[in-house]
Formats: sequence, C-alpha cells, structure tokens
Amino acid sequence: MDKLLIQGGFPLSGEVSISGAKNAALPILCASLLSAEALHITNLPHLNDVATMLRLIGQMGVEVTMDGNSGLILDSRGVNSPTASYDMVKTMRASILVLGPLLARCGEAKVSLPGGCAIGARPVDQHIKGLQAMGAEIRVENGYILAKASRLKGARIVTDMVTVTGTENLMMAAVLAEGETVIENAACEPEVVDLANCLISMGARISGAGTGSIRVQGVERLHGATHAVMPDRIETGTYLCAAAVTRGNIRLLNTSVGYLDSVVQKLREAGCDVAAEQGAITLKAPQRLKAVSIRTEPYPAFPTDMQAQFMAINCVAEGSAVIRETIFENRFMHAVELIRLGADIKIDANNALVTGVPHLDGATVMATDLRASASLVIAGLVAQGETLIERIYHLDRGYERIEEKLTRLGANVRRVR
Ligand code: UD1
Repeated sequence: MDKLLIQGGFPLSGEVSISGAKNAALPILCASLLSAEALHITNLPHLNDVATMLRLIGQMGVEVTMDGNSGLILDSRGVNSPTASYDMVKTMRASILVLGPLLARCGEAKVSLPGGCAIGARPVDQHIKGLQAMGAEIRVENGYILAKASRLKGARIVTDMVTVTGTENLMMAAVLAEGETVIENAACEPEVVDLANCLISMGARISGAGTGSIRVQGVERLHGATHAVMPDRIETGTYLCAAAVTRGNIRLLNTSVGYLDSVVQKLREAGCDVAAEQGAITLKAPQRLKAVSIRTEPYPAFPTDMQAQFMAINCVAEGSAVIRETIFENRFMHAVELIRLGADIKIDANNALVTGVPHLDGATVMATDLRASASLVIAGLVAQGETLIERIYHLDRGYERIEEKLTRLGANVRRVR
C-alpha cells in the first residue's frame, strides 16, 4: 500500500493548476445515463473515484471513449443493466447517484444500500423518500434498494435536511418525469449548479439551481451535449491551506474564488493575503497564522470538506480556536493523528478546541478518510522532520497527482510504495 513521506519545513511557492471537481464530475458521469445520445465531458479530474464511477456505469452498458484531449465521450445507447452491486457501492458511496438516473431512464434500478462510513452513518432515506414522492415503488431487500416506476411523476419534495447527493439524485430523476418537480430545502452547493448546467445543456428544463428551491419541468428525452466540469473548490482550498501554513506564496490556476467565499474569508481572518484574478487565486501567508474558529454548514457557509484542513492550520497558529462540525457526526478522526504530531486538540462531542503550538514534530500517521488525509499532508508540510502518512489510497480518491503538484510548489514529498 502506498505511503506519503513528507520532509516538513519548506514554504510553498509558485503556480499549480487546479483539476476539475470530483464532486461535480461524479454526478455528471451519472447524468450520461439519462440520454441515449453521447455526453462529452471535459476537465474531468484523474482520480480513483472517477475511475470507479466509469467502471460502474460501464457495467451498466455505457461505452466510454477518449476524445484525444483528456476528455471523455460517454455513449449510453446500450444501457441494459440497471444494477449497482454492493462491491461497487462499498468502495464509493457516491455510487448511489446512479439511482435517480437509472430509474428515470430504465424504469427500474437495483442499487446496493451504502453502509456507514468513517465519518458517520450517512443514510440515504431522503433519496428514497423523494423518489417515492415521484411515484416510484421502492423496497429494500437483502441490502439492495429495488426501485420501479413506469414513468416518474413530478412532485413537490421538501427534504428533511440539506443533502447534496440527495438533491442531485432527485434533480436527475425529475428531468425525465412527467410534469413539474419542486425540490425544497435543496442543496445550493456549486456542484449542484454544475450538474444542473450540464443537464440543461442536454435539454433539461431546470430553474433555481443554486437556491434552496429547484424547479424541474420534466421532458420526454434528453439529447447529447458537451460540458466542462467546474474547478475543484476543495482542492483549491486545500492548497491554499498548505501555502498558508508553510508561510508560502502561491498562485492557483484554472480555479475561481467565487466558489470559496467562506474559506477565503477565514484565511484572511488568519492573516493571509488572498487575491482573486481572472481564473486564478494568489495567497501570501503571514509569518504566523492567527487561529480561526469555524462552524461547518451547508453552502454558502463553511464546507465540512475543508474542516480537517483548517484544524491542521490552527494546530500551529497563534491562539485558540473552536471547530464545530455540524454536518457529520464523526468527522474528527484526523484530530487523534494530529495529536500524534504534537498538536493540542481537545474534543467534546462535535466541538474541537485547538490551541496552537510553536511547532509540530514529524511522525507516522494514518489517513482515515479523504479530507482527514489532506489535513495530515498539511500538518506534515509544516512539521519538523519526517512525516509518513499511511493508507493514502484515500488521498488518491480525491486529489489528482498530489505529490507532483506539491513538489512543483517546492515541497519535499515522496510516494513510497
Ligand atoms: C456530499 C459530498 C461530500 C460532502 C457532503 C457535505 C459528494 C459526492 N460528496 O456528500 O464530499 O462532505 O456532501 O457537503 O458530493 N443525510 C441523511 N439522509 C439522506 C442524505 C443525507 O440523513 O438521505 C445526512 C447525512 O448523513 C449528513 C447530512 O445529511 O449528516 C448531509 O449529507 P449529504 O449532503 O447528503 O452528503 P453527501 O451528499 O453524501
């Protein structure tokens, strides 16, 4: 199993390009199931989760060809097996995103129920209830969601909580339903908007994406389209944190500050100089960061996917900060590993009190989930001596060529096989 060896203490400087967003790419790949005409996707990130999703839709009959320019053409004419097996769903929870499109296109779907995961129970009851409101017959049997509907019918759905993939699944199901669907309490995340834009370019009639109320007028069929995946705001935020903590000065290309207001605001509060340009962001770090408190909430508030990275930067900042996680019930697994590097963190339920220490010391630590791994990389970049991060397959799910990008920025990082 690969490990990442980091020699800390090198300030990041220079430029790197941000990849397409994982969390936009995954639902967009599933959107290809909705049409018999080809979907051409560009700016797809090269990530293990994307490869897993391609394998999954490939098993269903989607033909994938390269466009010769790092994009892909997905041909779903031959979709004939509307099944997502436990083996696929257990490797990647986002596999649940095939449920809505399969049901809408094929009239049936058999999708394994995802189990719990490292950061919380993560049920999918809202996906199921929303599809039932649209007339689907759904049973859960032997660990599988078995769904049927000759044609889904538009409905008014109010989700119990804001759910990102829940909103995406229901929006994809609604585009081929009969009549109008309104999704209230919808997620406003930019990735939902990117998916909606892709669907609109395929002929869907959607308004309100990016607000809490999404309206979809169902159409008979969708056509082919070309769509460029939006930049990854979490990858962007992660590199900004890495530069902030190492007293760096970096410029990130092919990204936008527009998706990152809450994160940029906190970096400025920590003392960083962050500037936006057309398609790029620069960050210049202070000599020592100030600790900043955060509370995770649905977009546009502070994202849970940046919580671990901010915990890492607070570990060496001046003063104390409280980190409150409100989205997932068990998302502090990185704290115990950061403590192994010498951090001062006290956890009380979903609050973490982090008091900055003058320095961290390198050690062997273990990655437990994707963003937890990113926080350990950030800590390793500033720790004195060597940090060895184990189980970095989590990182490879969501960060494209991370060691290469960090090396380009002047970090001393090596993948050990
Ligand atoms: C997505 C993102 C993930 C991010 C998360 C929150 C993708 C592929 N993943 O995950 O990176 O951390 O949003 O921004 O886009 N919930 C239920 N029932 C449901 C659905 C959700 O109780 O049917 C709960 C979850 O357990 C969680 C909260 O709602 O506590 C939000 O989860 P949700 O927004 O659905 O997260 P994901 O879409 O799985």
